[in-house]
Amino acid sequence: METLITNDIDVAAKIILRGGLVAFPTETVYGLGANVFDEKALESIFTAKMRPPDNPLIVHIAEITQIDELSSSVNSNARRFIDKFFPGPLTLVLKKKASVPAIASAGLDTIGVRMPSNKIAADLLRKCGTPIAAPSANLSGKPSPTTWSAVFEDLDGRIDCILKGEPTVIGVESTVVDCSENIPVLLRKGSITFSELQRVVPETQMMSSDTNAAAKSPGLRHRHYSPNARVQIVEKVNDIAPINNSAIIAISEASDDFAFKKRVANVEEYAHDLYEFFRECDRRNIETIFCQAVAADGLGAALMDRLRRAEAR
Ligand code: TXA
Ligand code: MG
Repeated sequence: METLITNDIDVAAKIILRGGLVAFPTETVYGLGANVFDEKALESIFTAKMRPPDNPLIVHIAEITQIDELSSSVNSNARRFIDKFFPGPLTLVLKKKASVPAIASAGLDTIGVRMPSNKIAADLLRKCGTPIAAPSANLSGKPSPTTWSAVFEDLDGRIDCILKGEPTVIGVESTVVDCSENIPVLLRKGSITFSELQRVVPETQMMSSDTNAAAKSPGLRHRHYSPNARVQIVEKVNDIAPINNSAIIAISEASDDFAFKKRVANVEEYAHDLYEFFRECDRRNIETIFCQAVAADGLGAALMDRLRRAEAR
């Protein structure tokens, strides 16, 4: 199939409404969208990404009232998070309405819902008038795309359209919180932090990194966020001697002897640049990537989570 690359939101909306797949920017990473009520289109998301069928999709909305199309029971804690953080980089897992196709939630009785703040995403959603299911717009297992050209690299010829936008501002995927029961549980760390969530709902719990987490959030089971190269987290950059074909991303100044290096000013820039750095390392056939550790608080907690997943694969 020919993949159309466009800036035209009307064209992209028409493609969604006739059952096509459109990649679009959000504030976190690019998503690969389809009409959530079109089962055939949802199937084609899994095919295009080569995504395991047991990994549920996140559904995106433009208006708070659209939640009613997806869930019939939104508890008071979920309401508090919605009031405080929508639109923004937060996904809430809610009880699913039966009218939402089972394939969207990979057979679970819950559904992930997120209202992106990115203007292009919001305009596209508004023009479509239907909630849009959208996982990250990468081939399954690759780092999420933070630029339209990273989407092109993975999915050219496999999807109908790429709606172009700027590089995404945050660079790591949304915070995911399970609100389907009374006590909210943080399933995936993101730029909205655990302490920010607890400030709104003090009972919010952290999902422990055991089997329970895998059962609750199937996506966490799968290989994720990984470049082809081996990733190694390091504390002190000075201690690292460059080895053959190695690269480094760090806040501190590193040796010039690395085949490729990226210096970032702070944790925000680190998160913003990480996935594109991973992709650039793959383009250059880098074999080992060193990543400087950061303090695991605030956005640093989400960043360390992604680094550990990339290292563990
Ligand atoms: O920032 C983001 O969330 C991006 C943009 C495009 O919105 N999307 C994204 O989607 O990262 P994806 O599919 O790559 O990651 C979705 C995560 C997975 O870990 C999945 O398991 C979890 O959300 N998830 C989705 N629905 C769920 C549900 N009903 N219960 C538990 N976890 C769910
Ligand atoms: Mg993903």
